[in-house]
Amino acid sequence: MKAFALAHPNIALVKYWGKRDLAYNLPGAGSLSLTLGGLSTRTCVEFDPALRADALQLDGERITSGAKIERVSEFLDLVRERVGISTRARVTSENDFPTGAGLASSASGFAALALAATKAAGLELSPTELSILARRGSGSAARSIFGGYVEMNDGVFPFGQGANKSETGSSKEASEAAFARQIQPAAHWDLRCIIAVTSAGEKDIGSTEGMVRTQRTSPYYKQWIESVAPDIERAAQAVAARDFSALAEVAEASCLRMHASAMGAEPGIIYWNATTVALIHAVRQARAGGLPVFFTIDAGPQVKVFCPAESRAECRALLEKTAGVRQILEAHPGEGARLCEDFTRG
Ligand code: PMV
Repeated sequence: MKAFALAHPNIALVKYWGKRDLAYNLPGAGSLSLTLGGLSTRTCVEFDPALRADALQLDGERITSGAKIERVSEFLDLVRERVGISTRARVTSENDFPTGAGLASSASGFAALALAATKAAGLELSPTELSILARRGSGSAARSIFGGYVEMNDGVFPFGQGANKSETGSSKEASEAAFARQIQPAAHWDLRCIIAVTSAGEKDIGSTEGMVRTQRTSPYYKQWIESVAPDIERAAQAVAARDFSALAEVAEASCLRMHASAMGAEPGIIYWNATTVALIHAVRQARAGGLPVFFTIDAGPQVKVFCPAESRAECRALLEKTAGVRQILEAHPGEGARLCEDFTRG
């Protein structure tokens, strides 16, 4: 009743921002991402009849109370319900990159947890079933089950039919249909994602809180949601054709639209700091000067800059010379979540 799994975080090129249903954690629209090799979460789950409560150790720290352990315990309940057991589990998870700083550790965390927990409980789930399960822990985790370029469905409109179907069915039905799939393998296109860390702290407003506030109070939320399906189509075509400038345009547009909808909330949500803004301008200026680069930003102040593999050194130099950048991480297209033998291999 013990298993190890490894998963990578992912970065959305077309963002997910908003929930159709909180109980089932259903996204308000689809999304499109790249799974990031080079950054990993390794998780071990062991169900142990001797335990009276679930136990969590995250990056060497024992966590005995609070939101993190509650979230993990609720997630394990979904697995226990499925198998019909009540056994508590010991969960140990290690990230080889900074947690909670807008680098989507919840994506790799819940993808690895879904795989390790189901395996430890004796279940063999398909990648689609794992993606549905991982989504209950964190929306973006559904995408980290798969490697390479990944599209997430919203559960109501089948893939590619976002614009022309009306909403029907219950949240429970939609929950079984809201999953991700690979649209291109990692080897299809060697893009690099260079991450500029501009702040070390955990983010002030978590993604769920930010999404809920945006959809309750932002007059731009509806328009934001309507923009997603056409952007997914454009991004999928750009990825298929390896068209860097087309991808740059749609990815920056999606990122800025997401942040505009959040800034339009009350009180407005601003995830950026001065260095975030400086990097936006630096990237755009470099692109105008001929360097193939574009930025994207999630629910935090870090800036993720994409470039083709052959431009990685120039791209890195651009970030290094921007004042306020504290650390630079680099990732490449990675594989989906997989079982591994222990914390050191796989
Ligand atoms: O699934 P969550 O709670 O990690 O939310 C992800 C939200 C963004 O990172 C801002 C966008 C995205 O699609 O990953």
